[in-house]
Amino acid sequence: MKTQVCVIGGGPSGLLLSQLLHLKGIDTVVLEKHSREYVLGRIRAGVLEHGFAKLMREAQCGERMDREGEIHEGFLIAHDGRLDRIDLHGLSGGNSVVVYGQTELTRDLYDARARLKGTVIHDVEDVRLNDLHSGRPSVSYRQGDEVVQIECDYVIGADGFHGVSRKAIPRTVLREYEKLYPFGWLGVLSRTKPVSPELIYARHERGFALCSLRSQVLSRYYIQVPLTDSVDDWADDAFWAELKRRLPDEVAARLLTGPSIEKSIAPLRSFVAEPMRYGRLFLAGDAAHIVPPTGARGLNSAASDIYYLYHAMLAHYQRGDDSGLDGYSAKALARVWKAQRFSWWMTMLLHTFPDRIDYERKLQQTDLDYLLSSEVAQRSLAENYVGLPF
Ligand code: FAD
Ligand code: PHB
Repeated sequence: MKTQVCVIGGGPSGLLLSQLLHLKGIDTVVLEKHSREYVLGRIRAGVLEHGFAKLMREAQCGERMDREGEIHEGFLIAHDGRLDRIDLHGLSGGNSVVVYGQTELTRDLYDARARLKGTVIHDVEDVRLNDLHSGRPSVSYRQGDEVVQIECDYVIGADGFHGVSRKAIPRTVLREYEKLYPFGWLGVLSRTKPVSPELIYARHERGFALCSLRSQVLSRYYIQVPLTDSVDDWADDAFWAELKRRLPDEVAARLLTGPSIEKSIAPLRSFVAEPMRYGRLFLAGDAAHIVPPTGARGLNSAASDIYYLYHAMLAHYQRGDDSGLDGYSAKALARVWKAQRFSWWMTMLLHTFPDRIDYERKLQQTDLDYLLSSEVAQRSLAENYVGLPF
């Protein structure tokens, strides 16, 4: 098999790039380890930057997002029994975010790939990247007993944190930066009316909590839990009781509970791999970087990688200009590190750290007091939350 761009990973990053390139006449093949149903069964992100929403429209995938997604112009911070609002729209000069689930967005991308008869191959095993430093790299995979080889111009590693692409870069070249946090987020999806029309990020000494949503009838809630906890330790009743304890009384009183329709624990991690290019391999999204979900940056950082890669590929194929490809790693990493800083900061501001000394507890309190009393500090938060320019 031959293609121009072989994309490893059929998550949002890989599908979006494949769709954008296809619309410009550039041939792609997407290889995905799992079935479509499996990929769509993962409940993850919910908040999209306006720049990402724009890119979805450019990919001709924005119709349902624009119809069903909700525009949010602010969010709330709960602390010390009260609520304060961050006016994203007013503070960022008129920007906002779109609340639209990653599951729905991925479904739209799959549907768009199918409409254009794009090649997305599921259930591939033993994906291998070959000759990345030659002019003609290739990717091989196995499906059942058959081994298939794809010759291509470029390979895109969009196969998430646990994928194979990053591992194809020699240890002597790759530098990894990582910070692990001593807790995870237990997330519950429930068919209930959300407790608040806007997201609530709650700081509480028992641990962080987040009230989010997917629609006016579908709520997504999270609580900070120790890494040693498992989903089986948290019956629905225990989850709701703990969530209520971490919210101001008036919010807890109006929280509607119901059976969970999904429940999972995600450990919190900050991670960056450098460089994001090796020969003819380009890494994108979670394959190259991970953030704790507190700042809602993960999927959005993936989108900015795709934006840079898309334009770099267009310049190459349409004008023979390789400057975008050559500059990709440095350009993408500059934005990635800003998302890392912001996500780390929001995580440190809002979570309870088991081993924190009194001095650090005081600093955390002061950080929050400063934020809530300073418009300049809130502007910085808003600028980062709605998304820095690509
Ligand atoms: P992935 O979604 O991981 O996709 C990679 C794909 O590659 C997968 O489908 C995988 O099956 C496939 N794959 C893996 N290995 C191979 C292989 N060897 N061969 C072929 N295919 C392979 N981000 C936000 O921006 N906003 C939020 O509000 C937000 N909330 C989050 C909440 C939670 C609880 C979590 C866990 C994450 C959240 N994120 C959020 C982060 C976001 O979900 C990720 O950043 C996003 O999924 C990255 O997309 P991706 O396509 O790069 O990687
Ligand atoms: C979500 O709705 O899943 C969500 C929203 C905001 C975050 C993280 C996750 O910061």
